[in-house]
Amino acid sequence: MDNIDKLVNKLTLEEKAALCIGASAWTTVDVDRLGIPSMVVSDGPHGVRYVPDENEIARKSLPATCFPTASCLSATWNAALLEEMGEALAEEALALGVDVLLGPGANIKRTPLGGRNFEYFSEDPYLSGQMAASLIMGIQGKGVGTSLKHYVANNQEFQRFSISAEVDERTLREIYLRGFEIAVKQAKPWTVMCAYNKLNGQFCSEHHEILVDILKNEWGFEGLVVSDWGAVRDRVKALNGGLDLEMPGPQDRRVKQVVEAVQSGDIDIGTLDETVRRILRIVFKAQETKGELSFDEAAHHQLARRIAGEGIVLLKNDGVLPLKDHSRIAVIGYAAKVPYYQGGGSSHINPTMLDVPMEELQKLAGETELIYAQGYPERDVYEQPLIDEAVGAAESAEVALLYLALPTSKESEGYDRPDLELTAHQVALIKAVAKVQPNLVVVLNCGSAVTVQPWEADTRAILQAWMMGQAGGGAVADVLMGLVNPSGKLAETFPLKLADTPAYINFPGDAGEVRYGEGIFVGYRYYEKKQIPVQFPFGFGLSYTSFEYSHPQVLEHFEDIDGLTVSVDVTNTGNTAGSEVVQVYVHDIESSLTRPEKELKGFAKVMLEPGETKTVSIPLDFRAFAFYHPRYHTWVTEDGDFEVLIGASSQDIRYKLTTTLSSSLRLPCMLDKESTIREWLADPRGAAVVKPVFEDLKARFAVMFEDDGGIGVDAETMIIDMPLVSVFMFVRQFFPTPVEDIVADLLEKAHARDK
Ligand code: BGC
Repeated sequence: MDNIDKLVNKLTLEEKAALCIGASAWTTVDVDRLGIPSMVVSDGPHGVRYVPDENEIARKSLPATCFPTASCLSATWNAALLEEMGEALAEEALALGVDVLLGPGANIKRTPLGGRNFEYFSEDPYLSGQMAASLIMGIQGKGVGTSLKHYVANNQEFQRFSISAEVDERTLREIYLRGFEIAVKQAKPWTVMCAYNKLNGQFCSEHHEILVDILKNEWGFEGLVVSDWGAVRDRVKALNGGLDLEMPGPQDRRVKQVVEAVQSGDIDIGTLDETVRRILRIVFKAQETKGELSFDEAAHHQLARRIAGEGIVLLKNDGVLPLKDHSRIAVIGYAAKVPYYQGGGSSHINPTMLDVPMEELQKLAGETELIYAQGYPERDVYEQPLIDEAVGAAESAEVALLYLALPTSKESEGYDRPDLELTAHQVALIKAVAKVQPNLVVVLNCGSAVTVQPWEADTRAILQAWMMGQAGGGAVADVLMGLVNPSGKLAETFPLKLADTPAYINFPGDAGEVRYGEGIFVGYRYYEKKQIPVQFPFGFGLSYTSFEYSHPQVLEHFEDIDGLTVSVDVTNTGNTAGSEVVQVYVHDIESSLTRPEKELKGFAKVMLEPGETKTVSIPLDFRAFAFYHPRYHTWVTEDGDFEVLIGASSQDIRYKLTTTLSSSLRLPCMLDKESTIREWLADPRGAAVVKPVFEDLKARFAVMFEDDGGIGVDAETMIIDMPLVSVFMFVRQFFPTPVEDIVADLLEKAHARDK
């Protein structure tokens, strides 16, 4: 018996029940007599929000480094860098006395309107999963826990405490669960935080299938499931559903409920013991780590700058960037002096220091004179004099830099964005400045996509600087001045307009439900399938240098379980050192279920000196080719040809290679009395018995439809998607045996071939 089991044996029922709910907003219950300590948790995800008063939820936290938020992090496509950030976060957590950091968030950006999109990585589950895993490995590698959140289908803020996300099984598996699955399996987070919302009618906090069957049993998650703060409605149902730790506490009523439920048999004592074991394992794990009492603020600020620099995406540049030796630059925009670097809500960090973008630019610009104009007001109101002043400044300069940030109240936890636009004032500002100054560069600060189309043509360059963290001002200056060559690529599509977006007609839902009607077609999967043009595609980002791809290689044949490796040479063909993000997408040429045009399945970031060539190898595993089959309730591969697409973005595909997959799966025969002829033919066991029957039926239908001038119907096309039994019904007069019996006999023969 291990120590945890011994402790569980010594705990009273009341103590066990008490351990399952927080002692305060941020701590767990201790049991002094048995030496069980309390554990401290704090938000996350892009900094440590340690609130010293454990009974306060929203109070100002102690200073900690505010790193860029997740949308900027994922735009780096740099897993190693995220691990490094994770290590820094852990050092800060230890210095502040925090055992578990509440993050990262791996929810999918289903719509660019999502209020918390800035806290999430991507519209793509593979990228989300990899980024989350890297961060977790960095943090936990230093002995601090994480909480992967918000599990699952928490993709909007509207009615987030109650709405039911209606998601079909395949979509859930391939899109919304997938990132969590990758992170759980690769990085083993200490805790997973359940979402507030319902999934298909059931609260995530009580959802046995997602918490127990999938997370704990199928994926092997050994940590504890913690509720989002206030997500538990029914403590007994939640405990039986797999929710271990309820937060926040204390709530004596809940403790009592658990005790009574065990006494009445509504909760099995085995279930409670298992929950307590999971909690204690993490509480004691946290005890093993002893950290320093301080951290290097300056070094972490520098790291935050480096990360922001790698996440900034150069969306447009006709040569105006990097800035040359100008004598006068107009720096316009409220955000040039008041940096916009994080979003609203529980992730709000109290930074250790804060770069002012204009000051950082001046430090690098040396003798160049910078003239400032505010350009637009702090709040979303119209003030013509600010535009007039900006026009004056722009006119007198050689270049105008416009630092434009969304109003701070627009991107927050708790509510979604109403639209994708910059403010009307900001658009008017761009238009007015463009009239007097053609060298116009826009620096955008926003946590998710905005509409660029109404003013894109007025600019010569656009820099997407996200919510760039406390050192973002310096990072933007680095990129503008060319000290950093931009290498960020979009982890989310920038659409032309809101009405083009995948969830447009199914968001934010009504009558308590939001239907995920677009299914697996989220983000680029949707735009490509529907051939909808976009402003900037997924995976896109420019550089100050250029890259050429050559010698792509992939095996011609492979067996799914072996996976395969794609390789390609990348050469820096320009004059500046720089990094390229090589992306590998997979396209299934023929499939029994509909599939996206392409899906990201691998990537690598490679740094190259001018003229240098490196070979990049990217492994693809079974899952890179599989889809989730709702009928078999499992991941399935099918024999046949796949295209492996090597690209610099989802739309800039440099090579299309073909490879042939042999499936190692032997799926059970799923034919039943309702199966259509097409389904019979698609199953080799069905085809073997039904082919001759089909030929016969076809001939009979042809006679029926075509004799005496016919009724204008093509027999084969009509019957192929009818259940076999229905086809027989129309020609039953030709068969002595009842047609149901004929079908039953064929089914038996087909299933016999399964044995
Ligand atoms: C948020 C979580 C956060 C928690 C604690 C909740 O409202 O959804 O992301 O970790 O509060 O602050």
